Amino acid sequence: MSDLHPMPAEVLGQALTIGNVNFKNRLLRSSVGGRNCNYDGSVTDVWKNFEKRFAQGGVGGIISTTFHVNQSRLAPLQYPSIALQRHVFALKKFLPEIREEHGTRYIVQIGDPGYATYSSLFPEDTDGLSASDGFDFAFGYTNRRRAMSQAQIQEAISNYASAAARVREAGADGVEITAAKGYLIHQFLNPGINARDDDWGGSADKRFRFLACVVDAVRAAVGKDFLVGVRLSAADHNQDPRLLWWGRLPWHFKPEERRSGSGIDQMRKHALALQDLGVDFLHITAGYGFPNPHDVPGRFPFEEVRMFFDSVRHLSAKASARAALTHVAPTAWLDWLTNIGWKEANAVNLDSANIIKAAVRIPVIVNGGFQDRPDIERALQACDMVSMARALMADPDLPRRLIRREASQVPRCTRCNKCVGRTATSPLGCYDQSRFPSQQAMFEAIMAFNRPDGAPSGSDAQPSEAALPQA
Ligand SMILES: Cc1cc2nc3c(=O)[nH]c(=O)nc-3n(C[C@H](O)[C@H](O)[C@H](O)COP(=O)(O)O)c2cc1C
Repeated sequence: MSDLHPMPAEVLGQALTIGNVNFKNRLLRSSVGGRNCNYDGSVTDVWKNFEKRFAQGGVGGIISTTFHVNQSRLAPLQYPSIALQRHVFALKKFLPEIREEHGTRYIVQIGDPGYATYSSLFPEDTDGLSASDGFDFAFGYTNRRRAMSQAQIQEAISNYASAAARVREAGADGVEITAAKGYLIHQFLNPGINARDDDWGGSADKRFRFLACVVDAVRAAVGKDFLVGVRLSAADHNQDPRLLWWGRLPWHFKPEERRSGSGIDQMRKHALALQDLGVDFLHITAGYGFPNPHDVPGRFPFEEVRMFFDSVRHLSAKASARAALTHVAPTAWLDWLTNIGWKEANAVNLDSANIIKAAVRIPVIVNGGFQDRPDIERALQACDMVSMARALMADPDLPRRLIRREASQVPRCTRCNKCVGRTATSPLGCYDQSRFPSQQAMFEAIMAFNRPDGAPSGSDAQPSEAALPQA
């Protein structure tokens, strides 16, 4: 190409400024959480080294796993928290190491699981709190969820505000409030879960009020110049997968609105309202609960989820019955059954994100099923950034390779979702043995992701040749 006709610039390698924060490219590492923190929820050097590996791979920014804002939640154990002032210390110490060397921006996601609390040191009554009373066999460990009182709602809102202030104090570049994943805010937004008829439910505007109050309180706590984003589910799809829907007792789902949850038209209106509230960006996913097929398309990791259910069966009668049920039939049959409604798909939430992007002026990040350059470039024709999780766990260097158009040297993520199923029981990493020459090689690769000493020079610094995934 001559200088007169330069190659058209490709969007994915272009910088983008949101608020006061400049991202060096359009690729983000989406939230990935696991058991790499201390038991009190403070971050560790293992956590820092895990995050740093993605900065080394060239992402423009990292969105953290969900840091809990409620001090009574240690759930799952060894996940990070920002609910107390003492959590600031380690975060403040480690953030520069993640960010500075590679100019990677760091956004801390904050959230409260409400009744979707997966596990706990001891059963806690407060782990069943939600928008309203009800039953959900799949998510959370408490037997039934319970409606929060006015005072509990106000306390939850102020938890978000204080947590966001701590995120700023720790030196992060921004904060993302999770209103997705079936967590507390999502429970208020979802008409299948929120059956209140007071100021916090009964109409879409009232269901939105909890999120609006959280955004207002967070903004007041961090100031006008700090980046505040919201992770939003573009549509609830309450009926997907069918098995989880049955687990939520479908006779409670009589009106259509409750059966399917909020759809894209409703969420587009919420997106506009969030823009009016001064939110700086929206991070778009879909579906209700984690995992769900609209968020992590691929296989349902039955064996790994059974492993998790077994690990929390002592917490309640429901958790015990749920674990027992996963052992009543041959694994192959249960694996087939639980996979109904799950399928492999690329760029699953792009159409929804484009609809939202067409309605708002603020930047939109799209997530879900990205790992190929054409899908990413297509997404960036309208959306502003693309976030990826599993593809980067399989190959943290993927962003650099995509930007430089280099061929990948490791096998792609197969979306087996074993990492998803193991997130609350095992160290973070790729558990798809088909990507490795042996189980030992997979073990070494997982351990390389979870080292307190990072990757020093020396013979044991890197996984051995045999541990590298096969090209
Ligand atoms: C192991 C694992 C842990 C995750 N933890 C979180 C989390 O803590 N918070 C969150 O909002 N999403 C979490 N996610 C969801 C991802 O951020 C992302 O939305 C999802 O994996 C779909 O993107 P992908 O297709 O690029 O993997 C997690 C995903 C994986 C695979």
